[in-house]
Amino acid sequence: FEPWRDAADDHGVTMGFALSPGHLSNPGYRAIAEREFDLVVAENAMKWDATEPTRGTFSFGQADQVAAFAAANDADLYGHTLVWHSQLPGWAQNLTDPADLRAAMYDHIDAVAGRYTGQVVAWDVVNELWNDDGTRRQSVFQRVLGDGYVADALRRARQADPTAKLCLNDYNTDGINAKSTAMYDLVVSLRAQGVPIDCVGFQSHLIVGQVPSTYRQNLQRFSDLGVDVRVTELDLRTNVPASAATLAQQATDYRTVVEACLAVARCDGVTVWGVDDGHSWVPNVFGGQGAALPWDAQYQAKPAYTAVAQALGAA
Ligand code: G3I
Repeated sequence: FEPWRDAADDHGVTMGFALSPGHLSNPGYRAIAEREFDLVVAENAMKWDATEPTRGTFSFGQADQVAAFAAANDADLYGHTLVWHSQLPGWAQNLTDPADLRAAMYDHIDAVAGRYTGQVVAWDVVNELWNDDGTRRQSVFQRVLGDGYVADALRRARQADPTAKLCLNDYNTDGINAKSTAMYDLVVSLRAQGVPIDCVGFQSHLIVGQVPSTYRQNLQRFSDLGVDVRVTELDLRTNVPASAATLAQQATDYRTVVEACLAVARCDGVTVWGVDDGHSWVPNVFGGQGAALPWDAQYQAKPAYTAVAQALGAA
């Protein structure tokens, strides 16, 4: 097959993957990373705990490695993530004074988004701000700063990096439900207030056989609003070991997601959350599950790889 990235180009979309730079020393991983993808996002290296473990002391070693890989490979660099309750160092989680927390948030955005201005095509400015029922997640930002922290973060990110598109990103917003409708209503409200919001990311950490029936329709309604959309963290997990029938269903599901993106005018592309089943967050969080990615732990292409290639017209 033609590489995914070349086939995607013909559709005006990019194919991304989440990179952990330490894995690049592995030749099998590296070969796939270089051949197939034209967008790179740091799996962990640009998060708050990695970039500002101590207040005001920034460390960009791993993040710079991700940026360098993207540049060397002529791939877009996608920023993940500026404001998130998880992987947030204790010092930030424990701030209780609104002015102090807002200052810390602004300093963080200035330093991290500012460093990669001109390199990052889009930032997940705020990640996972919702509960599944569509109420606000009670993160430290929400508790101390209130609803307005999202608009404040977006405005600050625009100042820090005027060229990156600014996104909100979440999981379980992949079909039409209370959570995705809360996201939709927020985008409408932010735009009415003139707050910079360019894009919405749909993580799409899905289960084999359970792609939401409203998946394409959900992307479409955001696209119709005039924001760009992206599948930002795609994987499809299952119980392991996976049978041949399950891997075939997984291939169908990967194809369904890619075809949905291709069918929606403002869908920028699809990012898979890793490369191979040997390096995936899934088994660490869901006991007995895994096999969620298009390559197996020996870097052999699975049926899902072929299905994506076919959806892109590479086959
Ligand atoms: O680096 C340390 C290592 O030194 C230590 O020995 C080891 C022991 O636990 O932990 C390692 O850090 C882990 C890190 O991944 C790197 O492997 C952290 O414990 C672990 O929590 C962290 O998990 C990451 C997770 O976000 C944290 O929330 C996953 O790799 C990463 O794939 C995952 O990505 C998130 C997205 O950012 C947001 N959407 C959901 C997605 C999946 O959870």
